[in-house]
Amino acid sequence: MDKKAAPKSSLDALVSLCKRRGFIFQSSEVYGGFAGFWDYGPLGCELKRNIKESWWKATVRNREDVEGLDASIIMHPAVWKASGHLDTFSDPMSMCKGNCRKLMRADQIWDIFDESPIAEALRGMLGDAGRIATWCKGKGKGVAPGLYTVQHPEHLETIFEQLKSVTDLHALYVLLATPAGEPEALPCPNCGGVMTEPRPFNLMFKTVVGPIDDPSNVAYLRPETAQAIFAEFPNVLTSSRQMPPFGIGQIGKSFRNEVTPRNYIFRSREFEQMELEFFIKPDEAIELLCGHVAKLTPETDLSEPQPDWGWECWHKYWVEQRKQWLIANGLPKDSFVEYWQKPDELAHYARACVDIEYRFPFGTQELEGIAARSDFDLSRHQEHSGKSMEVFDEPLKLAVRRLSDEEKAAFRAKTVAEWTARGKEATTAETFVDRLFEGKYIPHVIEPSSGVDRMALAMLCNAYEEQTITDEKGKEDVRTVLHLAPSIAPVKVAVFPLVKNKPELYAKAREIYRSIRTLCNCYWDESGAIGRRYRRQDEIGTPWCVTVDFDTIEKDGTVTLRDRDTMTQERVTLEDLRRRIMEEVL
Ligand code: GAP
Repeated sequence: MDKKAAPKSSLDALVSLCKRRGFIFQSSEVYGGFAGFWDYGPLGCELKRNIKESWWKATVRNREDVEGLDASIIMHPAVWKASGHLDTFSDPMSMCKGNCRKLMRADQIWDIFDESPIAEALRGMLGDAGRIATWCKGKGKGVAPGLYTVQHPEHLETIFEQLKSVTDLHALYVLLATPAGEPEALPCPNCGGVMTEPRPFNLMFKTVVGPIDDPSNVAYLRPETAQAIFAEFPNVLTSSRQMPPFGIGQIGKSFRNEVTPRNYIFRSREFEQMELEFFIKPDEAIELLCGHVAKLTPETDLSEPQPDWGWECWHKYWVEQRKQWLIANGLPKDSFVEYWQKPDELAHYARACVDIEYRFPFGTQELEGIAARSDFDLSRHQEHSGKSMEVFDEPLKLAVRRLSDEEKAAFRAKTVAEWTARGKEATTAETFVDRLFEGKYIPHVIEPSSGVDRMALAMLCNAYEEQTITDEKGKEDVRTVLHLAPSIAPVKVAVFPLVKNKPELYAKAREIYRSIRTLCNCYWDESGAIGRRYRRQDEIGTPWCVTVDFDTIEKDGTVTLRDRDTMTQERVTLEDLRRRIMEEVL
């Protein structure tokens, strides 16, 4: 059989498969749906569980230096004041003042426009003033009833010459929306009306705790899982008996009242995050302990953490760890890119931030981020709660005790100079050095933060393929297949009896199915031709199909094992089958 890969299909084909086969449904579909919310069906919830399980194993369970946490979704509102979310966690929002009154994120207006029927219509008319004028007087009334030149076609005469020379679609749309002599309008991508000036809109969902609906009882659904980790830092520190460098990982729901949820499950209002806050000693403590801080160079071996690593090595280490996890779970190296935020893009407290961006069908967009957040978060919680977030580091205290007075003075002078050069107060630096000399500091944080839903979407997009297959007789057929990594695939093995009407064969197949089920998620299918059964499994990404036939019961007990990706078949013993599952899945 000859097979050739068709170009990766659009998101639409994937969305349709996900609904048809029970991966993802629109929330509350029977009531017309609910924008920004999604339900994961029987296969979708297995897929998500596998992603979370794989992340948890790699990030928490298999590491001696990471502990887990499962905190409440609703926390004391003071948490959000301390974290800055109450004051600054907002998106710029604009509203259409024209026909449709739609609200949207001001920074997404042009993206929404690019996908709109208005853009589709105007795109082919650039530079053709006559066609543009005809459109404004005719079809434009249907798709852009709020557009100034649609409502005032007489204006077209005054801009006719300009219409001939505009070569940019956005500039054309602005021109069509702006009355003569007025400042440039920002037109609505939905109806052509004018948008309001952007205003900040806080993304946190509010709720009321207790029976009295009063502003004093307002609380918030968490917009990220991270803050609970910071708030619980002292409890985990003392109960786990860990010391920096160590991390706390958490997986859980987060909520953001996104102004324009879009691109399927990419940007939702309810989603899950997998976040690690990895607490490290400040570089100054490393210097006191080791006499130096390791320099990060292209040659630095990042495979094993070292005692002299400062924040730069730790940050790069986690970037590499995350990339390795993505590759091990089926995303090829060239499917994502590393974007290092520029200094002017960084949050004021962040020292570095890397976005891992996946090449989604709708553009290259953030899949997850790895940020070096300094001691900002713990310092804020210490300041707002009045509770200490410091650790006491006995070896640090002993290292300081070994220093001469001159060495201490030199260290102090150097640290104060470095801090003031970074814009900090000299007194703050002095206090920090005083605490450090007592063996105390607030840990710094490296934060790898991923979204489960966005990860699921990237893995599904990467896995989806429509293959045109030609059989021995030259007949062409399309095979839809999800090349999901076995660790992520919702069903690992499907078991088929070759025929239904041979009791001995059927019973053997059931016995094999039941035994594999104890190892992994396994599917039973007895209906239709074997070829059709294979196709049903290919479409949901099942890596292996096992057919129990006459040889199984009459000869050597072996079964036919068919591989999803190569479509090759081989005879294997049940022992081999179990070994393969254990190696590739568990
Ligand atoms: N604690 C840091 C933090 O929350 P973020 O970049 O806002 O950082 C981290 O979010 C990850 O969470 C993103 O990279 C993305 O994978 C996921 N995420 C954020 N907002 C999302 C949304 N509205 N829908 C789906 N996933 C989202």
